[in-house]
Amino acid sequence: MTLIQSPAWKALSSHFDESKQQHMLDLFAADPKRFDKFSIQHGNLLLDYSKNRITEKTMPLLMSLARQCNVESWRDQLFSGEKINATEGRSVLHVALRNRSNSPIMSDGEDVMPAVNAELDKMRGFSERVRSGEWKGLSGKAITDIVNIGIGGSDLGPDMVCSALKPYASDALNVHFVSSVDAMQISQTLSQLDVETTLFIIASKTFTTQETLTNANTARAWFLEQASTTEADIAKHFVAVSTNTDAVSAFGIDTDNMFRFWDWVGGRYSLWSAVGLSIILYIGMDNYEQLLAGAHDMDQHFKTAELEQNIPVIMAMLGVWYTNFFEAESQAILPYDHNLNLLPMYLEQADMESNGKSVKRDGSAVSYSTGPIVWGAEGINGQHAFYQLLHQGTRVIPADFIASVQSQTDNQHHADILASNFLAQTEALMRGRSLEETQAVLDGLDISKEEAEMRLPHMYFEGNQPTNSIVMDKLTPYNLGSIVAAYEHKIFVQGVIWDVNSYDQWGVELGKQLAKNVLQEIESGEDKFEHDSSTNGLLSWFRQHR
Ligand code: F6P
Repeated sequence: MTLIQSPAWKALSSHFDESKQQHMLDLFAADPKRFDKFSIQHGNLLLDYSKNRITEKTMPLLMSLARQCNVESWRDQLFSGEKINATEGRSVLHVALRNRSNSPIMSDGEDVMPAVNAELDKMRGFSERVRSGEWKGLSGKAITDIVNIGIGGSDLGPDMVCSALKPYASDALNVHFVSSVDAMQISQTLSQLDVETTLFIIASKTFTTQETLTNANTARAWFLEQASTTEADIAKHFVAVSTNTDAVSAFGIDTDNMFRFWDWVGGRYSLWSAVGLSIILYIGMDNYEQLLAGAHDMDQHFKTAELEQNIPVIMAMLGVWYTNFFEAESQAILPYDHNLNLLPMYLEQADMESNGKSVKRDGSAVSYSTGPIVWGAEGINGQHAFYQLLHQGTRVIPADFIASVQSQTDNQHHADILASNFLAQTEALMRGRSLEETQAVLDGLDISKEEAEMRLPHMYFEGNQPTNSIVMDKLTPYNLGSIVAAYEHKIFVQGVIWDVNSYDQWGVELGKQLAKNVLQEIESGEDKFEHDSSTNGLLSWFRQHR
């Protein structure tokens, strides 16, 4: 039986047909306890999901689907180190990296916790030496600048967390992220740096990624070009983060200066591993451990809470409701906290690289939509840019509004304006503005009746746009850890429902392979290419204009 023929899916289909026209405003009017029924608090986090197009029947039906798809048993397999990433023959154990209870977690019959803890200890020691100034650069000066060279999961997570937790950072250290192979980024970064006080972290799970190794080589060449440096100084200024010891050695980094992680950590789930080294240097190990603790707390919640009371499961099943029944194509991420402005980009990779799949675990094609297009930006700026489409466009766009209540500054007035916009936007998206209300607004304007009639349909808002409000008391390392872990588990649950492997990413390979051939063609003297006419034409144009 396929998913869409299953009893739980069919029940949801019928429920969708009978409830899809209902307006949330009417549902709120009919039930004063709607917020209490459809919100959940965990620690200092609140998920209000009452502004969704759900009735009291919807959540039980969604949870039946989750049970029918064996979410609980998949969850157990994840935590017990089963090789659920079957296409790569790997366990999926980012939860072990933040397992603060230190209970054994097995992979291939071996408890991974001693190795995880040893690496954490090594990072603590190293970061304390760098942050205290005990680690000296080539001329005996302390390190002032950290440059993380990585891309994808070896960049987005650390960059997002460093940006989010800036208020917890040391004033003595700056952190820079270089990911693009466009030389503009690394040259702009290098131009700000003093070779004597810069530490490069080359972060790459595979240590084969073209962009990262190209940037790493450029950084090393820049380092060695400086009058004061020698090859021997590299050890004081370059460290590596990888699973690939041989490639790190081959690159010329002493493996004593290498921080390890394991193939059971997916790149987009790796900020909790040694890939977090730039975070640790920036905010210190104690704060990083708080980040891990917050994630672990969410792991425990996800692992033990009933599906009905389980934040990641609720978020996941609401996403399934919109993707598969409302045929929503995207999921917006709208943080109302300036320091979370990289979260949408981070979640784009986490979600789309995980669930952007069209083949089931058994290799057959899916007959339903899978991962949504995830997009977003800082909400307050979006209001003055793309929210028009959320308010009056033609699509259903589920949106996660994410806010921290306590400002990291002492400017309460700014914080209140931000909060009022957060609250007003989710209310406006839900309630809309009826024709009568719009007419009343027009009646108050000094315009002719004809003008008012003409404007009426343009100023009417249908509303009924679904939002989740995810609110924390403050953007602390702990809360950030919890939120990111909640999204990771949401993505996992959706992958289980859609029966896809959320932990491989074969789709990124083809472009990489073709790029290697095209690079040779761009740099060769040849002018005859054997691609399609578009690629041939573009290639010639690039060659003529380079
Ligand atoms: O090409 C995609 C990808 O493999 C991502 O999955 C990964 O996060 C990124 O590239 C970087 O990979 P690595 O850490 O091995 O350099």
